[in-house]
Order: sequence, then C-alpha cells, then structure tokens
Amino acid sequence: MNNIYLIGFMGCGKSTLAKNLAEALNMHCMDLDQLIEAKAGQSIRELFDEKGEEYFRDLETYYLKETSNLKNTIVSTGGGAVGREVNRQFLKAQMTFYLEWPFEVLYSRIAGDEKRPLSKSYEQLLELYQYRRALYEESAVYTIGCQDETPYLLVKKIIKLL
Ligand code: S3P
Repeated sequence: MNNIYLIGFMGCGKSTLAKNLAEALNMHCMDLDQLIEAKAGQSIRELFDEKGEEYFRDLETYYLKETSNLKNTIVSTGGGAVGREVNRQFLKAQMTFYLEWPFEVLYSRIAGDEKRPLSKSYEQLLELYQYRRALYEESAVYTIGCQDETPYLLVKKIIKLL
C-alpha cells in the first residue's frame, strides 16, 4: 500500500489517528516530529529555542521528503509542514488527508502546552489557523471534518476513501 499522510493544525489528532489507522490497515506508523527529535537528539522545543525555527523547518522539509523511501506507512506530520511550497507540492502528490476541526476545539487542546513552541496567545494562534487553512486544503487530497466523529468512525471514513 502507498504511504498515507495526515496533516492539520496542532491538536487535530494526527498522531493518534495515524496509530489507529495503522492498526486497522496493518500498516506502519511514523510521526515526523518524533523522527526529527530522534535524528537531532533534541526536542522540538529545544530545536526552536537553540537553533531557531528555520533550522527546524529545514529538518522537517528534509525528513518529509525522506519518507518517500518508506512503504506501507501512515505518516503524521507537524502542523507547520504545509508552510513551505516544496512540502505542499510533495504532499499534494501523496494520499494526504487534512484533519479539520473548528479552532475553538484545537485551542482548548493546545493552549498552554509548553512542548509546542508555537503555542502562543489565542489571537496569534487564531491568525495562524486562519492563514494555514488554505494551505492544508491545497496540500490534501481529502479534507476530513473530524468534529462529531468518533475515532472509530474517522478510521472508517478514511479507509472508504482509499
Ligand atoms: C508546529 C506543530 C508541531 C511541531 C512544531 C511546529 C506548527 O507539531 O511540528 O511545534 O508549526 O504548527 P503538532 O502539529 O504535532 O503539534
């Protein structure tokens, strides 16, 4: 099976859904942020604080592209992976799903999360969410409305589209 990519804003449940999907489809599962942390030997927070966001984005772009060497894998990406045009082009050419949630739900999940360097004020996050929506839509083959769905139904919904 070709790889499947999950994209969406922070807190949309990409990593959890990737695990659920991998189990249901008997595929592997890979979290891009976790891979970057392991390769860099630093947490995302440390990478942002010590080396800066652009350094992190370079690693993100590099390792996203590297996932094309994988097979049969569900890849969950970081919320900002759609920021660069080259990444959007890459994602667009894959089986990519955008997990869409209303901002209020996402905010309640990510507010005050110290591990997320971009978890800032309500207004800043709302602006980022509004800016990125079009980028997620552009990068995905399918947009999946997640509100009011159980994890089980979300998995079923995605499998139907494959
Ligand atoms: C980011 C989202 C994070 C992580 C980094 C930057 C973003 O991933 O990649 O903190 O720019 O939205 P999650 O979406 O898994 O929180």
